[in-house]
Amino acid sequence: MPGGVYISIPFCAQKCTYCNFASAVFPADLLEAYLEALEAEVAAERWAEPPDTLYLGGGTPSLLDAAALERILAVLPKVRWNEATIEASPGTVRAGPWRELGLNRVSLGVQSFAPREIAATGRKHSARQVEQEVDEASNSGKLAGIARLDRAPRPAARLGLHARGG
Ligand SMILES: C[S@@+](CC[C@H](N)C(=O)[O-])C[C@H]1O[C@@H](n2cnc3c(N)ncnc32)[C@H](O)[C@@H]1O
Ligand code: SF4
Repeated sequence: MPGGVYISIPFCAQKCTYCNFASAVFPADLLEAYLEALEAEVAAERWAEPPDTLYLGGGTPSLLDAAALERILAVLPKVRWNEATIEASPGTVRAGPWRELGLNRVSLGVQSFAPREIAATGRKHSARQVEQEVDEASNSGKLAGIARLDRAPRPAARLGLHARGG
């Protein structure tokens, strides 16, 4: 049975207040070293069977330009992906170029549509921007999911907000 490939791109534009994933704001020159190591590791893989799903997670893979994404895709087996997903933070959705590269799903990290809650995450985007990008990803027909912390258990605590009294 075909398997899936998960590739983590740990680079972020900021470290969000709630996030305990292996991700950080790294010096820009580390990206090249990371890509080279990733290319070498993937190229050395002996696939028992070619994978049919790909998940680019993170971190924030949507920060990578098309050339960097193309480098990663180039070392993977040449297959028609059933699902090829990229995780994105608001402000970084590039539906057109991703489609051209064969990425066919976007998982957008929204967290919340409430301005106060968005501010508490340490993110810089606005609720309006999120709405526009949800529209862009939806119109491209590729929106796979919206990551929301305001629907998680104890959302206020996760977002670093104190529970409102009364
Ligand atoms: C790890 S991020 C990667 C994609 C992108 N950087 C982003 O911010 O959406 C994916 C999602 O994980 C969720 N997440 C991050 N830290 C979390 C935590 N401590 N508990 C639950 N969900 C978390 C957030 O909703 C986030 O959007
Ligand atoms: S952008 Fe995503 S991966 Fe990076 S710190 Fe924020 S939630 Fe974590």
